[in-house]
Amino acid sequence: MDYTGKVAVITGAANGIGRELARQCAIKGMKLSIGDIDAANLAEIEKDLKSTGAEVISSSFDVRKFDEFDAFAKKTIEHYGAVDLFFNNAGVAVVGTIWSMSEEDWKWGLEVNVMGLFHGVKAFIPFMISQDKDCRIINTASIGGLITSPNSPNYIATKHAAVALTEVLARQLQDQETKVKASVYCPGFIVTNLHNSELHRPQELKNDPNDAYYNSPDFAAKTQRMAEQVLGGIQLPEAINRLFKGIEADKLHILTHPEYRPLIEARFKSILDAIPE
Ligand SMILES: NC(=O)c1ccc[n+]([C@@H]2O[C@H](COP(=O)([O-])OP(=O)(O)OC[C@H]3O[C@@H](n4cnc5c(N)ncnc54)[C@H](O)[C@@H]3O)[C@@H](O)[C@H]2O)c1
Repeated sequence: MDYTGKVAVITGAANGIGRELARQCAIKGMKLSIGDIDAANLAEIEKDLKSTGAEVISSSFDVRKFDEFDAFAKKTIEHYGAVDLFFNNAGVAVVGTIWSMSEEDWKWGLEVNVMGLFHGVKAFIPFMISQDKDCRIINTASIGGLITSPNSPNYIATKHAAVALTEVLARQLQDQETKVKASVYCPGFIVTNLHNSELHRPQELKNDPNDAYYNSPDFAAKTQRMAEQVLGGIQLPEAINRLFKGIEADKLHILTHPEYRPLIEARFKSILDAIPE
């Protein structure tokens, strides 16, 4: 695949996966439009990329707000007149026991991880269809969108929604005979800043620091487990290599960690076993 001169759009580009994606897209010769709520780190990565000669524009915005996502799309389209790869990637993780968690936790996760993806689709897909050329949207979900585990229920629920949303999107894009493809990135753990998502939580959705649950051993243990899992993950360059392999192989689901096969098989076997005769 020749990426030279193509346009990559990346949300969540200030840290972690999005930041490494931006770096690797620039190395491949792509032009970039990057967005994130973390204005300081976004400005830093923009500066770094420009110093290597890459063409980059950036927008500091909140994926929870459709108007802001739409302004990001309009700025990108006005500047480049094309979108080739759109990585709808920004996300957050919260941990907890479902019945002890706050409504703020659930709203935040749903608004970023689900509504954020929807806003990206609504802002970019009509233009991408109108280009009438091969292009792709890649929604970031997680392996947690294909299996379940007890540490971060909101994260798991939102990532299942991200997988389902993308499967339906791919189907609708195909049914309407567009040239836009859709993929959903479902990586296992990768060393990023995901366990520090709290840094990106808006003020209006902050938890009450005096709430008993957020001072409990259960919450502390789940928080620690999330940090250990993320920091025990694979390194970013390899995670992005595996993502590009999936894109180049035209995969709908892009997975990174073969060791999750038994868990995926076990989940689907349990569902298949529940089908009545
Ligand atoms: N790191 C992992 O182990 C892992 C595994 C599977 C999936 N993922 C997914 O990868 C994506 C990227 O996460 P990461 O691991 O790079 O974490 P990260 O925290 O390092 O990066 C996430 C980025 O999203 C941005 N963001 C958060 N809320 C936002 C908002 N409202 N508007 C705009 N930007 C916002 C953050 O500022 C940050 O730059 C997420 O969707 C995450 O769920 C990560």
